[in-house]
Amino acid sequence: MNSNKLTKNKITLDRYINLVMYSKKTGYYEKDKVFGRKGDFVTSPYISSIFGEIISIWITHHFTKRNVYNFNIFEIGAGEGLLALDIINTIHKFKSLNINFKYFIYEKSKFYKKKQKIKLKGKNIVWVNDLSNFKKKNCIILSNELIDAFPVKHLMKENNVWYEKYVRYNQEIKNFYLENIKINKDHEIYKKSYYPMNKLNFIEYEPDLENFLKKVSNLVKYCKNNIFITFDYGYNSIEFKNTLQAINKHKKVKIFNDIGNSDITHLVNFYYIKEIFKLNKVSNITYQSQSNFLINGGIKFRLQRILKILKNNKSKQKLKMSVKRLISKDQMGSLFKVFTAKI
Ligand SMILES: C[S@@+](CC[C@H](N)C(=O)[O-])C[C@H]1O[C@@H](n2cnc3c(N)ncnc32)[C@H](O)[C@@H]1O
Repeated sequence: MNSNKLTKNKITLDRYINLVMYSKKTGYYEKDKVFGRKGDFVTSPYISSIFGEIISIWITHHFTKRNVYNFNIFEIGAGEGLLALDIINTIHKFKSLNINFKYFIYEKSKFYKKKQKIKLKGKNIVWVNDLSNFKKKNCIILSNELIDAFPVKHLMKENNVWYEKYVRYNQEIKNFYLENIKINKDHEIYKKSYYPMNKLNFIEYEPDLENFLKKVSNLVKYCKNNIFITFDYGYNSIEFKNTLQAINKHKKVKIFNDIGNSDITHLVNFYYIKEIFKLNKVSNITYQSQSNFLINGGIKFRLQRILKILKNNKSKQKLKMSVKRLISKDQMGSLFKVFTAKI
């Protein structure tokens, strides 16, 4: 990454995250070995393809119950393309339903876009370059662990004065440190009326979120059958928590550790996702735990079906453990949420 940009002057926290995560060539998401056991973290598709299978059933059901057999799936932030592969392979198995579908991907990282093109070769995928101009009817807009990867700002109130967190570099001891700086009345936060500034003492928000959800809302509103579904870790509260974290090789580290090689994320506050959708006149919202979504979608039934087919005891055990990890309250089942929005 351009270290001059990081060390020369003070920069806001979100700018710091943007530079270390998304800088062309040197940003975290422009490098390999991010995902999987050998990388820094695993996402649900890496735990088992049963995750993608249940989503495929949900997608197919969403359309077939509306008598739609020709539909579009639009995934945003597809990483290595594993979820796309699972979904495409599963829906192809529903031959008797005579389904026709097209898969589209919008990906910010050049590196991962390239990886997706290799992994998904021959799968007839279209990569979208501009989110604003993408318009399709009968379209599922899907993402897994996308919004947690958006850069965040931290604002805090002390004695009725609001401050913003900045990152500074100490040239002498060659170290980064955080500093709170008073904000002015023209700060963008004052234009975001959905944050009740008088009731809050701390705000952790994604500056790119409003614009992103506006584009998603336009796509959702384009057709009554369109729906946005996102899976992410998070919570639902008018008050914010400080959830910023960095992960390196599956362990929590400081955000200034191994810069550009550690993942920096946060928990999504779905309360404000809902508020922004409402502002865009998309108010048919559902919010549930991942455990609820997968169990209602038939994951336990599907598990039993596969267990009957599997011969090897080790594979059976592995699959049971994976499903447990996806749905257990003390693992991903509770922390991960599933949010949908339609008109
Ligand atoms: C945590 S990874 C999740 C990848 C994948 N969905 C999975 O579950 O394995 C986040 C992905 O979103 C991409 N991304 C981050 N911000 C994005 C944005 N604003 N638009 C599109 N993709 C984005 C990253 O490059 C990366 O591929």
